[in-house]
Amino acid sequence: MAYKKANILIVDDDYDMLELIQRQLQEQNFHAYKAASVVEAISILKYSSINLLITDLKMPEVNGIELLKYVKDHYPKLPKLVITGFPSLDGALQAMKSGALDYLTKPFTKEELKKAITKSLPSSLQQSKTQAKRTESISYAGIIGNSEPMEKLIDLIERVKNNRATVLIQGESGTGKELIARAIHYKGSFAAQPFIAVNCGGIPEDLLESELFGYKKGAFTGANENRQGFFQAAAGGTIFLDEIGNAPLNVQTRLLRVLQEKEVRRVGEQKSEKIEVRIVAATNSNLYKMVKSGKFREDLYYRLNVVNIETPSLRDHKSDIPLLAENFLRKYGSEYGKRVKLTEKATDLLQRYNWPGNVRELENIIQRAIILSDNEITTDQLPEHLKYSISTTNTPLKSLLETEKDYIKQVLAHTNQNKSKAAEILQIDRKTLRNKLKD
Ligand SMILES: Nc1ncnc2c1ncn2[C@@H]1O[C@H](COP(=O)(O)OP(=O)(O)OP(=O)(O)O)[C@@H](O)[C@H]1O
Ligand SMILES: [Mg+2]
Repeated sequence: MAYKKANILIVDDDYDMLELIQRQLQEQNFHAYKAASVVEAISILKYSSINLLITDLKMPEVNGIELLKYVKDHYPKLPKLVITGFPSLDGALQAMKSGALDYLTKPFTKEELKKAITKSLPSSLQQSKTQAKRTESISYAGIIGNSEPMEKLIDLIERVKNNRATVLIQGESGTGKELIARAIHYKGSFAAQPFIAVNCGGIPEDLLESELFGYKKGAFTGANENRQGFFQAAAGGTIFLDEIGNAPLNVQTRLLRVLQEKEVRRVGEQKSEKIEVRIVAATNSNLYKMVKSGKFREDLYYRLNVVNIETPSLRDHKSDIPLLAENFLRKYGSEYGKRVKLTEKATDLLQRYNWPGNVRELENIIQRAIILSDNEITTDQLPEHLKYSISTTNTPLKSLLETEKDYIKQVLAHTNQNKSKAAEILQIDRKTLRNKLKD
């Protein structure tokens, strides 16, 4: 693939700064990895191919100067850009000596950042406006779509699939978060290792800890033998922590330790065991808001959110609807032994609807329509609510009375002017319907 999108690693102990720079980089179409400490940064460098390092200097524990030295020794060609909130000539000099190409003082503007990046990045990696289109088939590990948001999403998966950086997938329900987690694993270089999916919302709170980390014989009543948890089972591969927003606080604390120490401890066990596993977490709740309201640990949030994937809502890539529909027609068509097509009007209706339930809703609607139809899906086989939502969103707003009148006409048309049937659908008696028609 001929993408020329640079991977930029930002290192700063200030989370707000990390988020801010990430946003600015994304706007400029760069791909951002975030690390809140030098130790994390080094582990990201090891597993990912980074094109530019942006680092703060003053950080607790190991500082930025040490990181610059490390990078100079291990990745001598990697360009570096230093940012700091403490502009001291001394720091600048030291940074220059360790090979930093440029130096930015906080606060800086978007333009200053952009200029510094342009100066630091090799020209072959400068952002080109015309991004290469994916030429392979439309489906990527079962993910369908060739709209721009989907291209971007697949580009991101390509970048993260071969390294162990933790990925946080966020998006509305039915947007394919689980599908993406699986794609990251099965397209990546540890595809032969296990992929273990855990629904953090589906396991009773008191069992979650032992399910995740395993337990030692005798740890609690009923623990008759040593047992491994999901983490040990996923060793070498990927653990998918679905609905991470539902993980109780005590489990959040344990997860944080796993991420920090890269080791797990079974319930009832004193010793920890080293574990090499990639964590992919997903949620459809707004984790950032949960952090702000104290329901989710802030430090865990940032540890999970090294790479952030946001799944687009279907209403933001409606151009993929025909492709998706086609795919579900084939899938369920062969399941029910039918060859069914969508009429143009039906396709049109699908494209105008707002899709609060996203791709899952589309899939369900197509599946149901196939059951209801012989060889063609017309608007009749599509649920009524698709039609209402259009009459209210795409035409000028009408009074209740007018809407009622139109709707009665619509139902009568549907029943071939059969008033009894229409009254039944409208759930009013025939007399009321007659009166309404008279009015
Ligand atoms: N881009 C896509 N291409 C093909 N199928 C898709 C796509 N996105 C979602 N789907 C399908 O839609 C259904 C829902 O997807 P998935 O379970 O991954 O959603 P989710 O984001 O995890 O939703 P939730 O938050 O409700 O758990 C699945 O059957 C999945 O295969
Ligand atoms: Mg899901």
